[in-house]
Amino acid sequence: LAALEIKVEEDKSLGEAKKLKIGQSYGCVGERVKLYGWIHRLRANKKVVFVVLRDGTGFIQCVISGDLALVQQTAELTLESSVALYGTVAKVPEGKSAPGGVELVVDYYEVIGLAPAGEDAFTNRIAEGADPSLLLDQRHLALRGETISAVMKVRAALLRAVRRVYEEEHLVEVTPPCMVQTQVEGGSTLFKLDYYGEQAYLTQSSQLYLETCLAALGDVYCVQESFRAEKSHTRRHLSEYTHIEAELCFLTFDDLLTHIEKLLINSVQYVLEDPVAGPLVKQLNPEFQAPKGPFMRLEYKDAIQWLNDHDIKNEQGEPFKFGDDIAEAAERKMTDTIGVPILLIRFPVEIKSFYMKRCEDDPRVTESVDVLMPTVGEITGGSMRIEGTEELMQGFKREGIDPKAYYWFIDQRKYGTCPHGGYGLGTERILAWLCNRFTVRDCSLYPRFSGRCKP
Ligand code: 4AD
Repeated sequence: LAALEIKVEEDKSLGEAKKLKIGQSYGCVGERVKLYGWIHRLRANKKVVFVVLRDGTGFIQCVISGDLALVQQTAELTLESSVALYGTVAKVPEGKSAPGGVELVVDYYEVIGLAPAGEDAFTNRIAEGADPSLLLDQRHLALRGETISAVMKVRAALLRAVRRVYEEEHLVEVTPPCMVQTQVEGGSTLFKLDYYGEQAYLTQSSQLYLETCLAALGDVYCVQESFRAEKSHTRRHLSEYTHIEAELCFLTFDDLLTHIEKLLINSVQYVLEDPVAGPLVKQLNPEFQAPKGPFMRLEYKDAIQWLNDHDIKNEQGEPFKFGDDIAEAAERKMTDTIGVPILLIRFPVEIKSFYMKRCEDDPRVTESVDVLMPTVGEITGGSMRIEGTEELMQGFKREGIDPKAYYWFIDQRKYGTCPHGGYGLGTERILAWLCNRFTVRDCSLYPRFSGRCKP
């Protein structure tokens, strides 16, 4: 467009423009509004400039025409510049589609922060389909893209939904510490930390702290970061992840399984009903089927049989035998083949953590559960916990853990023990399943994994 050297000024006779968020403006056809946001798309025609404006609450198509389209300032607009657009909301013509079914007919605008053009332009910094590691270096900019921002909105809705289910089920939210001196899930994945000269760790799980809350607050939950120094560079492992954990008292293993099922079914239902997140899940994952209860319950020993019947081998390339860990590849093959959510239960003592309660009818196995979902595999791990001090001490011994640092956890057994159990959900794994992402890295705001701690 040939640029006009005229000054852009607001025509005050048009009346006050109402300051709104984009999402609020869709219902304001005929009104003059002022919308702040970032230029998401930009296209210039002969005499018209089309802008798609974005502010986090939505997108709106905006039309700049007349002299305003021809001024120098308009010719210099760039993608990702922040602007305030003034104009009248209009229905889009029959047969045309646009976000909210409207467009903004712009009569005046202000540039707030002009983004660079040329070599440093946004599109050069963050090219679609670029190398994933380059994209991760530019995560702060990539977040502005439609896909990642959509996953982050579903994430917010999921955390809201989970909290809503917990509220309905009368669990109290607590915030355990991240800096700890005890392990929960094995020494090999601990991040060590110098704590004023003492050895400390970043927490692997808040479970032990949740257990101590039962006698004070009843059933409890937390949404807290957990840290795992995972050497495994897989698409479902992060070094820091958002761990949704709950602990419940005076219940049976069967009650625990039913509770987990209810949490997953209801929270997914609430996400799908959410006016923002529901349509985003549809867009990201058109094939998504909401899980229905009751979930299939599969005993570890029967899973071993199933794997052998289907000629799936263990990590040594041999047929599975009782006591083998079912590693990621085999677990995924089984889950994807069966194709429905599975509660995999009753794992052998030796392959599970020190705190797990043994089954009364078969002391070789524990009252433990992993929830497996098609396409991602394990999203939840939980169990009933050992109730007696003596048995717990044997658990520490078996795992080679010095019980000294766990006096507070042991006290839970000493001062009014109770049957109890709980579980942990990996937020990013549920999201990968819900939003059909190849890796959990897409589901974390700033993913952390070995070799990546920036931005
Ligand atoms: O199975 P995990 O290790 O169980 C625990 O930490 C228990 N103490 C939880 C409890 O009973 N309160 O982890 C639970 C879940 C897994 O099912 C998985 O979804 C997720 O946490 N998870 C990870 N997510 C991303 N990256 C990792 N490195 C993860 N490790 C576990």
